[in-house]
Amino acid sequence: MEFFLDSAEPNEISKFQKLGIIDGVTTNPSLIYKSKKPFRELVVEICSIIKGPVSVEAVSSSNEKMIEEGLEIAGIANNVVVKLPMTWEGIKACKILSGKKIPVNITLCFSSSQAILAAKAGASYISPFIGRLDDSNIDGIKLIREIKNIYRNYNFTTKILAASIRTKNHVTQSAVAGADIATIPPNLLDTLPHHHLTDKGLETFTSDWEKSGQKIL
Ligand code: E4P
Repeated sequence: MEFFLDSAEPNEISKFQKLGIIDGVTTNPSLIYKSKKPFRELVVEICSIIKGPVSVEAVSSSNEKMIEEGLEIAGIANNVVVKLPMTWEGIKACKILSGKKIPVNITLCFSSSQAILAAKAGASYISPFIGRLDDSNIDGIKLIREIKNIYRNYNFTTKILAASIRTKNHVTQSAVAGADIATIPPNLLDTLPHHHLTDKGLETFTSDWEKSGQKIL
C-alpha cells in the first residue's frame, strides 16, 4: 500500500519525506488556505520536496475552466496530478485531460456509481472520502471494498486513494479492503508507531538489559 500525506505544509511534507515513508501528497483548497502561502509558489515547493504524485485541485465549476486550470496546474511540475470534483463538469474535464495524458484524481467520491464513472472517464485516481461518510453514519470502508470489487471485475486501472482518513483503523481497514493508497493527515501519521503494549514491552526489555550489566557497543 502506498502512503500519501494529506497536507499542504512543506515542513510536514519534508519531515515525512526524510523518513522515506511517503509516496505522494494530496492537497485541497482548504489545506492550501490553511497554509497561507501563495498558491503557485507553494505547489512548486511541495513538488520539489516530494518526487511522487502531488494532487492539486482545480476550483472552477465549468468543464472549460477546469480544463484551463488543469493545464495550468499540470504545467507547474511534472509530478502534479490534477484533482477534479465528482460532477458532470469534472467528469467532462477528466476525460479531456486524461486524453492529453495528464493524470487526474477525482475527489469527493461517496458512492460506487461515482467511482465507476470516474474510471470510465479515465481518472488515474478515485478518492472515496471514508471519514466524511462515517460522520454521516455510512460505512466508508464498505465503499472501498465495493469499489475494489467493481474495479477488479472490469480490470479498471484507476487507483483507489482512500481519503478523509481520521483513525488508525481507517488506515488498516482501507488496506484490508484493498485500497491502493491511503492519504493520511500528518497528525495521524505521527501516531502510527504507537501502541501501549509496544511501550510496555520496551520498558521491560530496557530495564532487564540494564540489570544484565552487559553492553552491545
Ligand atoms: C483528500 O484528498 C482530501 O484532501 C482529504 O482527505 C479530506 O479529508 P477531510 O474529510 O478530513 O477534510
